[in-house]
Amino acid sequence: MKYQYTPEDDLYFRQCLSELLAHPAIEQLKEIPQHKGGTTYAHCVSVAGTAYRLARRLGWKIDIRALVNGAMLHDYYLYDTRTMPWSDYRHSLVHPKLAVENAEKHFDLDARERNIILSHMWPIPGTPLPRSREAWLICVADKLCAFRELYLKKR
Ligand SMILES: [Fe+2]
Ligand SMILES: [Fe+2]
Repeated sequence: MKYQYTPEDDLYFRQCLSELLAHPAIEQLKEIPQHKGGTTYAHCVSVAGTAYRLARRLGWKIDIRALVNGAMLHDYYLYDTRTMPWSDYRHSLVHPKLAVENAEKHFDLDARERNIILSHMWPIPGTPLPRSREAWLICVADKLCAFRELYLKKR
């Protein structure tokens, strides 16, 4: 059965997001460029909103806090890809693991949140399968947002 989202759920989503955005460790994402002139901070906020709207649309009951934590930390790799000697493929494979490593210096992640981050590049070979509704939502929302940022945004 589909879950009917309530205004309280929307409020809780916004609360979880603002709590995390007020965390000093999240500030750093504003300095990391991503996708043609944007920042990782803006990308992660878009992923959170898109994933939450998808959950609403699908009527999937989810853990809203885990979804928001996963969205804001899925790209917590903290380097500018343009300054790294790595290929795009190597970045795709490595950055989710670095994101978990970096995030765990500031946040206590549970197994589900760790899987959300580690699996967001699925189906790239070598990437673990998303194991929760929250992980599937972030995996899809990340691709939608990246496509929008790369190909549809005016600058
Ligand atoms: Fe990523
Ligand atoms: Fe991403």
